[in-house]
Amino acid sequence: MGKDKLKRFAEVATFPNVVQLDAGLPFKGKWARDFFKNGNPVVLELACGKGEYTVNLAKLYPGKNFIGVDYKGNRIWRGAKDALEDGIKNVGFLRIQIETLLEYFADGEVDEIWITFPDPKPQVSREKKRLTSPRFLVKYRHVLKPGGFINLKTDNDGLHVYTAEKIEELGLKLHVKTEDLYHSEFADEVLSIKTYYEKKYLQDNKNINYLKFSFQ
Ligand SMILES: C[S@@+](CC[C@H](N)C(=O)[O-])C[C@H]1O[C@@H](n2cnc3c(N)ncnc32)[C@H](O)[C@@H]1O
Repeated sequence: MGKDKLKRFAEVATFPNVVQLDAGLPFKGKWARDFFKNGNPVVLELACGKGEYTVNLAKLYPGKNFIGVDYKGNRIWRGAKDALEDGIKNVGFLRIQIETLLEYFADGEVDEIWITFPDPKPQVSREKKRLTSPRFLVKYRHVLKPGGFINLKTDNDGLHVYTAEKIEELGLKLHVKTEDLYHSEFADEVLSIKTYYEKKYLQDNKNINYLKFSFQ
């Protein structure tokens, strides 16, 4: 492991806005009250990487709490450091495997979910690892409040089509679907937040797909 990565791992453990693994368990059902010390809604960014959505949504919506979830501490380091340096209080990061989400969030605790440029896992044998496979959707259904939105931004056309198929198969409610976000009517201030990976894909002239859906 590189020296910088090791330094970031050590530093991220000292950040007050980062919670790692088991340290997050006591916050289940109490993120707003005990972590953020308020009663505001909690929004998750899953596979957050450097947490661009978490930090920028927090700036746009000071009346909500935002938690970036990823298992890579050296990536979370970036977003957590930016939030600390800018004095943004409604940002937190949780370093866990998304598979364990139900251990960390109570039923109905989450207002909205963002999934930003997740690894597409195109191989059929890896379907269960896709963050929009039924195995993960069932977890999101638990933690989301009734009617809470899931937003998926991806450069990967296959993952976009796959997710749209699951939405239909499972009878979920589709609110927005576009295969070319930046040439659509939907590219507002929120959807134009660009993540580290998104910027790379845009440089390669990739289209950006977007889906917004809910369970009811
Ligand atoms: C392609 S990167 C995207 C990062 C960021 N959202 C962006 O757009 O720049 C995918 C991220 O998902 C994280 N990830 C993948 N599977 C995960 C899992 N099961 N649990 C937690 N994080 C996961 C990886 O660590 C990585 O940071």
